[in-house]
Amino acid sequence: MRRLITVGSVKGAPGVSTAVLALAAVWPDGADGGVRPVVVEADVSGGDLAVRFGCPHTPGLLDVATSARQERPGSLLGAATALPFGVRVVAAPAGGRACAEAVRVVAGAGRHVLLGDDEDRGTVLLDVGRIGEAAAGLVEVAESVVLVSRGGADALAHAYAHLSEDGVRAERYVLAVVGPCPYAAGEIIATLGVGRVVFLPWDPKAADVLTGRARSGLRTSGWRALRLLAAAGDAARQLSGTGEVAVKGLSGDLAGLGAVPSPGGRLQPVAELAAKESAS
Ligand SMILES: Nc1ncnc2c1ncn2[C@@H]1O[C@H](COP(=O)(O)OP(=O)(O)O)[C@@H](O)[C@H]1O
Ligand SMILES: [Mg+2]
Repeated sequence: MRRLITVGSVKGAPGVSTAVLALAAVWPDGADGGVRPVVVEADVSGGDLAVRFGCPHTPGLLDVATSARQERPGSLLGAATALPFGVRVVAAPAGGRACAEAVRVVAGAGRHVLLGDDEDRGTVLLDVGRIGEAAAGLVEVAESVVLVSRGGADALAHAYAHLSEDGVRAERYVLAVVGPCPYAAGEIIATLGVGRVVFLPWDPKAADVLTGRARSGLRTSGWRALRLLAAAGDAARQLSGTGEVAVKGLSGDLAGLGAVPSPGGRLQPVAELAAKESAS
């Protein structure tokens, strides 16, 4: 059986697809017996990869959905295409009823369609776009759920609203914060109740490669050393269980304390925490 990790957002376009490709590109070789991960675009509002990278979306998600109805669904890998930087993806069309229906079929079909048989290995990174009703089945069956959000109070408030809903087990979630964030990891964990927080930097150079805008980036040897890829590597090691990553500084100290609710349950910027500490 493969491992399933569902990745999505609750509002806007914070960088889910970029984060998923970054995770897949730097997934540790030692995880999953050396089998590289597969990215599956399962976004009801349509995929972006085929257009961004000029690759076909067939075979792709529609074929997976078609085979899901059969008694013995074929391997997911038969529907995968390799992107220029080597990541395997099962792409979806850019939208339309067939795409939305395919996501619903795959979500309803349960784990075996995505995870294969007992002897199948590797991680499936599912880009569901928005974590909404259509993706509920794909969230439920996943080993881990990564909620991607920007780092401001407004974006985190939407994450908080989702995580507080009935039936949502916030502790299963890893919150991936993209770009600047004035809050420390421990403070976010304490307030939102997520199991873990990872920070992915704002890195246009890496994002240009991961959205197919800059193939020249690939000629730069060591593009995996770019800040976003390096941070994604830390996150991938945590998600794949191949290594714990030390969180340095105040975030690490607070994370180490576990859930410490802030007064009134309000998110406190790091600067406020530091001011409080120096006043006491
Ligand atoms: N970490 C990042 N640094 C810089 N730009 C980013 C980053 N993540 C995403 N972007 C940019 O934001 C836009 C939306 O990203 P995308 O991953 O498609 O979002 P989503 O899948 O959430 O809709 C793209 O133009 C992408 O290049
Ligand atoms: Mg996307």
